[in-house]
Formats: sequence, C-alpha cells, structure tokens
Amino acid sequence: MAMTLGIIGAGAIGNVHADTATRAGIPIAGCWDVNPSKGEAFGKKHGGARVCGSIKELLSMKEVDAVVVAVPNVDHATVACEALEAGKTVFLEKPMALNVAECDTIIKTLERTKGRLQMGFVSRGTPASRNVKHFIDAGTFGRIYHIKCSLYRRRGVPGLGGWFTTKAMSGGGPLIDLGVHVIDLSLFLAGSPAPERVSGATYANFGRRMEDYVHTNMWAGPPKFDGTCDVEDHATALIRCAGGLTIEANVTWAMNVDEKHMPNGITVFGDKGGCFFPIFGKQFTIATEAGGKVADLTPEFASGNVEHDAWDEQYRMFKALAEHGTPAHADAAAGRRVQSILDAVYRSSAEGREVTV
Ligand SMILES: NC(=O)c1ccc[n+]([C@@H]2O[C@H](COP(=O)([O-])OP(=O)(O)OC[C@H]3O[C@@H](n4cnc5c(N)ncnc54)[C@H](O)[C@@H]3O)[C@@H](O)[C@H]2O)c1
Repeated sequence: MAMTLGIIGAGAIGNVHADTATRAGIPIAGCWDVNPSKGEAFGKKHGGARVCGSIKELLSMKEVDAVVVAVPNVDHATVACEALEAGKTVFLEKPMALNVAECDTIIKTLERTKGRLQMGFVSRGTPASRNVKHFIDAGTFGRIYHIKCSLYRRRGVPGLGGWFTTKAMSGGGPLIDLGVHVIDLSLFLAGSPAPERVSGATYANFGRRMEDYVHTNMWAGPPKFDGTCDVEDHATALIRCAGGLTIEANVTWAMNVDEKHMPNGITVFGDKGGCFFPIFGKQFTIATEAGGKVADLTPEFASGNVEHDAWDEQYRMFKALAEHGTPAHADAAAGRRVQSILDAVYRSSAEGREVTV
C-alpha cells in the first residue's frame, strides 16, 4: 500500500522533508510540534496535514505509516522509540542520538518491535557521492587506504545561543552537527569498516565569548547573546579502522581562515585512483593511471538540482523501506557506527590521547 507520512518537528528540516515527500507524491497526513505556532505554520504550508495536539494523537493516526523525526538531538531517542512502538517506519534525522548508549536503546526497540528505520545521512545521496561510490565499487580506485573529509565554515554557528549550541540538547558542536555527514560518507564509501581507535581534539573559541566575535552567515537564526554556548566550534580527528583505513576529519562552525582556501568535501586516496569531490558538487576528476601514464577521468553525471537529487534519493529508498522492507538509504548500524566515533573524539579530546572506539 502507498505510504502516508507524519512529520514530528516542523522546523527547518521538517519542512525540507515535507517538500521532498510532496515531490515524491507521498501524502503528509499530519504533523506534531511542541511549538504550536510551528505546527500551525506547517499545516498552512502543507495543506491537508492535520496539526496534532500531541505526539500520541499523531502516532495513533491509522493512516500514518511512517514518520520523520526532525526534532532537536536531545529528543531523537525518545521520539524514535515512541514511533517504533506505535509501529511506524521511522526516518530519523542525524545524528542518531546524543551518544552510543541512546543509539543502543533505539536499536533494542527496533529489534524488539521488528521495526524499520532510516537514518538521515543525506550526503550519501548526492550525485557526486553516488558516482564516486560507483567507481570505488567498480575497482577504479583500487584499495582505499585513506580518506580526508572536511566541512569548514568561517562564520556559521547555527542559532548561536539556541539548542544547537547547548550541549545538553545537541550533544556537541560541529562534530555532531556536520561531522556526522562526512564521517558517515567516508565510512560508506570505504565499505563500512569498523572504527577501532580515534585521536581527536576539539576547540571552543568563537561561541563561549560570543560577543567578542563577528557572527554572519547564520543558519537557524540570529545569535542570542543571552543564550548558551557550551559546545566546540572546531573538531579534528584521526580515525583508525579495521583493515588499516584511516580517516582524517575536520569540521568547523567558525574559524579565521578564508573558506575559499579550504577544500570542503571528501578526498579519497586509493592505490589505483583517487579524487577530491565537493559533496554537493557537479563534477569531480579521478586521478589514475592508464597505459603507463598518469591520467585523469572526469565522469559525466546528471546535475540539475543537486540538493533535490540527494533528498529525492533518500525518499526513493525510504518509501521502498516503508512499503516493501527493502534496505534503508542508511541504517541504524551506520548511525551507531558514526556515533561511536563522535563519542570517542570527545573522550580523546578530554583525555588528550588516542582512545579505543
Ligand atoms: N540532514 C540535514 O542536512 C539536516 C540539516 C539540519 C538539521 N538536521 C537535523 O534535524 C533536526 C532538527 O533540526 P532543525 O534545523 O530543523 O531544527 P529547528 O530548531 O529548526 O526545528 C526543530 C523543531 O522541533 C520542535 N520540537 C522540539 N522538541 C520537540 C519534540 N520533542 N517533539 C516535537 N517537536 C519538537 C521545535 O519546536 C522546532 O520547531 C536536528 O536533529 C538536526 O541535526 C539535519
């Protein structure tokens, strides 16, 4: 039967989900947001969606087969578990939860209810990511021994002073916000090896002394200087995986470096080929060898609206998961794997040494 969707958390990304579902022809039957004005605005924008007065009301709607969990990170585990208990297929936004212990609670509930869950790792779905994965799987890169992944923002602290910068609600700064995307993508490209050891460091310069810095290009609203910022704004890590792969991850919400000098994306080092690609880019070049000479391979791939392509790919797989139980675009194990690395980076940074994942 064709699936019908409910949205939990009608904020910025809840609306992106609704727009994507609409493009995919998936009806949105209802929404629930703790902030009534967000729920009302969502109901108006996505006409036909019932604005529910509680999560129970939404989850008891028989016509809702699947729900999106797009609430602040602190509520991911409880809301996802409640939805699984109600028998809904769950699209859980990243990060999976605040920490691995919470991921394990979700996974236990998923197993006990024989439920279905997809993680919101949209970066896997971009045309560039899918093409690089295709060439990796076809052997063009040979053995991948190192991946460097980076997302740098010069001034891009989301909602400074709000939930993103409050550790109790977000679990951390750019590592848990942006790092999840690039670390998941790196592991996915390399065939999901188990992370074993991590050496990481985090820094907090731009948020704690909020008013000492200029804050522009804000995602999630203007700074609230009377709010909280107790998370990092820069993280770096070396992750050692089973089989020898290393991943170097670098993420910032703020820095005093011109972004144009920083490669934002993924660099793959293989013994037969390698490349750098911006995740939402429209082209990349594989550096390889042919006929005893160095050679470049620049694949052609469709590139209309890259953001839409990536979101549509997530929904193509989510719909199939809900309707037919086919594999998720990214599964709970992937969510937990990334979270185990985040936990280890924070621990390594606090202890000042390499730690076991
Ligand atoms: N995939 C991506 O690229 C991407 C991008 C941005 C955010 N996200 C993730 O999506 C989630 C939401 O982020 P956002 O930017 O939309 O935040 P947001 O603050 O814009 O929206 C969150 C909404 O959830 C509501 N809410 C809070 N607690 C709730 C609860 N328990 N039940 C129901 N509603 C609740 C809030 O009122 C708000 O309207 C976060 O986990 C974030 O990490 C993912």
